[in-house]
Amino acid sequence: MPRILVTRKEHFNAAHKMFRPDWPKEKNEAVFGKCANENWHGHNYDLFVTVEGTPHPDTGYVIDLKDLSKLLKEKVVERLDHKNINIDVPFMQGILASTEHLALAIWDQIESEIPKMGDCRLHSLKLYETERNFVELRA
Ligand code: NI
Repeated sequence: MPRILVTRKEHFNAAHKMFRPDWPKEKNEAVFGKCANENWHGHNYDLFVTVEGTPHPDTGYVIDLKDLSKLLKEKVVERLDHKNINIDVPFMQGILASTEHLALAIWDQIESEIPKMGDCRLHSLKLYETERNFVELRA
């Protein structure tokens, strides 16, 4: 039997800056470019969460996507949407707000919750910071 992957897409807008206080301004600008802008800037993030598992015999679902959507809204979207990642988001405090770090933090928020929703587990997560730049994590 093939492996079955089920994906839910969510979206949020958030502000950040990429800035290390232990580096001079010039180095921050050289390394992080526009993302080092002191007065913040925003991104339209797209999040794809993929779950792998076995369909339940009663429903045919690996995971009820309404349940997955609710989890992602509560644990991720409501905590990030229209927020400043550097200031407003508890699970990103003290963490350089790269897409890589944000994807890892999102993974940590949801991984343990997925197996409670069926015979399934978190398989992968893709976080798009722009249309052309995204990070993918895999279990
Ligand atoms: Ni940026």
